Amino acid sequence: MSVTIKNAQEQQLLREAGRLAAAVLTMIEPQVRAGVTTEELNDRCHEFIVGDLKATPAPLNYKGFPKSICTSVNHVVCHGIPGPKKLRKGDIINVDVTVIKEGFHGDTSRMFYVGEPPVLARRLCEVAHRAMLEGIRQVRPGARLGDLGHAIQTFAEAQGFSVVREYCGHGIGREFHEEPQVLHYGTPGTGLTLQAGMAFTIEPMVNAGRPEVRLLPDGWTVVTKDHSLSAQWEHTVLVTNRGYEVLTARNGEAP
Ligand code: MF3
Ligand code: CO
Ligand code: CO
Repeated sequence: MSVTIKNAQEQQLLREAGRLAAAVLTMIEPQVRAGVTTEELNDRCHEFIVGDLKATPAPLNYKGFPKSICTSVNHVVCHGIPGPKKLRKGDIINVDVTVIKEGFHGDTSRMFYVGEPPVLARRLCEVAHRAMLEGIRQVRPGARLGDLGHAIQTFAEAQGFSVVREYCGHGIGREFHEEPQVLHYGTPGTGLTLQAGMAFTIEPMVNAGRPEVRLLPDGWTVVTKDHSLSAQWEHTVLVTNRGYEVLTARNGEAP
């Protein structure tokens, strides 16, 4: 299937799905503390999504994924499976939430600090966040996907960090992962030309060390090959006539 342009009604449904996904991260924030297990975070998110939001957690049983959210701690890059391990002071963790509401997906993730992580860990999280924002800032009709990738890559690398190549952002709508692939590196003026009504995620994974990753034998957990820390933030973005709309923005979040 090729890149779809969402009509006004579809945009409204995506907007609602995005709003609900963002609400899950807002809900879970105070619970991300030392001593809590990632499984407990999963269970709270699951109950909130199903019970309060009357929505569906998209990851659960997606290609066999066993849980309702992804939790990626420290050197885990993405797709960490919630489990019995307790968070410890100084950890950094990405919580990635995708919900389905009335057939449409909203996909967002952010980093949390457990206690006060070391300065490098905090700087990595901040740089990954700003790298995502640099990508979002490029979004407007007529821009090219390579413009986004280039903005993300140059920002992250200028800070001495590296960008993961094996995983990318994606179109989103009735399907979890649609075309196009949104690379977090690239060359300006290349790639797909954006049009109003396109919707996709921007979700750079930034490593403190080398960019290479390894898949663990569980078939899901992606870690840095050199065991360096990794950070990721994700928003679902709609291309508008004026530029962009961040469908998963949280209340009070800086633009
Ligand atoms: N939410 C992830 C993304 O941003 C995908 C998770 S797939 C899962 O695309 F199966 F691991 F949940
Ligand atoms: Co995504
Ligand atoms: Co996601």
